[in-house]
Amino acid sequence: SDELCLTIVVAGASGDLARKKTYPALQFLFQHGFLPSNVAIIGYARTDMNDDKLREKLKPKLVGSDDDIDKFLKRCTYVAGSYDGAEGWQGLAKVLDKRESKCSKNPAGRLYYLALPPSVYPQVCAGLKEHCDNLRSVEGSWIRVIVEKPFGHDLQSSEQLADQLGKLYPEHQLYRIDHYLGKEMAQNLFVMRHANMFLAPVWNRTCISNVQITFKEDFGTEGRGGYFDTFGILRDVLQNHLAQMLAMVAMEKPLSVHPDDLRDEKVKVLRCIKPVEPHNVVLGQYTAANGQPGYTDDPTVPDDSKTPTFAAVTLYIDNDRWAGVPFVLKAGKALNERKAEIRVQLRATPHFVFNGEPESMRNELVVRLQPDEAIYLKMIVKKPGLEFDAAISELDLDYSRRYPEVDIPDAYPRLILDSIRGDQQHFVRRDELRAAWGIFTPLLHKIDAGEVEVHPYPYGSRGPAEADELLARADFVKNVAY
Ligand code: BG6
Repeated sequence: SDELCLTIVVAGASGDLARKKTYPALQFLFQHGFLPSNVAIIGYARTDMNDDKLREKLKPKLVGSDDDIDKFLKRCTYVAGSYDGAEGWQGLAKVLDKRESKCSKNPAGRLYYLALPPSVYPQVCAGLKEHCDNLRSVEGSWIRVIVEKPFGHDLQSSEQLADQLGKLYPEHQLYRIDHYLGKEMAQNLFVMRHANMFLAPVWNRTCISNVQITFKEDFGTEGRGGYFDTFGILRDVLQNHLAQMLAMVAMEKPLSVHPDDLRDEKVKVLRCIKPVEPHNVVLGQYTAANGQPGYTDDPTVPDDSKTPTFAAVTLYIDNDRWAGVPFVLKAGKALNERKAEIRVQLRATPHFVFNGEPESMRNELVVRLQPDEAIYLKMIVKKPGLEFDAAISELDLDYSRRYPEVDIPDAYPRLILDSIRGDQQHFVRRDELRAAWGIFTPLLHKIDAGEVEVHPYPYGSRGPAEADELLARADFVKNVAY
């Protein structure tokens, strides 16, 4: 058969990301028959261990019966080697050659998954390129590289990293993951927006008063403080996940669903966003409360750290469709709940002739990414009963009720599968990255210089009260709670 001879190299196999995300995602794909039955998954890292030791490490995060887990783990082997120098990579190259010689007539697919900090990407890519890229010439063979954020820490460093990687692997081989793009509801945004006639005429500054994109977590940095402290919430969540969601909400309809058509439109809208102005920003850092530690209580975080764990920023898109409409991006750790959602609030209906508070009687479209995927539209309807009052209710599409039989896949398996299929639609192109960094870089430099105030907020709270003022200024009206 001409089945793909697929080899997945997980560089950084002994690390947290690999154990928690990459291998479980690969297991999901394997168990559901999305990977060729002869797939080989080769872990590569500096830790000195053998196949069995790796399997032991991976097992607790895998799911299913012992038999299912064993079948998957049989495909997983390990090669120890360093990220610099030639020796380790040459060892890996030998294993790859041996493996591929067993299916030498079939096209070979090689996926290098870099589950590593970006600081080592250049040397890892150089090692792979120089020592391992001896791909055979059977038609349909390919090599692709998956990389994880953060891609740099500002515009300049991101460009530098992109230059270094770009010299080794051109854009069509590079798959930059932003896992929010692999979420069901993020993908749905694109379909929902561009396939519904009733939305099209209102999707603009005439009818939309403000847009809010919110990411909340009800836990702190928990052991990731060392990593987090060098980045902060703006680099960790806003510059990538939330900026991508904003682009999906605000972009024009692309020419087609071809990955480049779609990404062209995302870049265009991102480039229309002016860099964030400091008066449109509220930063926060959580403090100990309710028996939970404060951010600086994390032993890996310096005691005097001013790194924000919460940020709310208002952005403006300078184009015909959106001029003047505030887009409020808000993200925080150690808040009162875990939730990610997009709220599109329309303007109040003019000449409101019913009983009720006209200003709070607003239509609002809410897309909840997690938990419990849902789309609901706040509608003003007659309150049932003998009175003749208006009230807010919901047209509600709750996924677990509407699609009880569908197991909504996680972002990682979906994105890995896309990369095996060669589909870059849900991966971040270099120019998108550049545009997104451009929006935040001047602000980040001010924050790094200590020029922006960071408000304390208690662990488990709604975040700093100052953020509510930002929402009020953005004309957000809190109508009936859902
Ligand atoms: C990651 C961030 O990209 O996304 C984490 O680095 C964050 O800090 C995570 O916790 C959130 O992802 P999800 O899918 O759980 O919302």
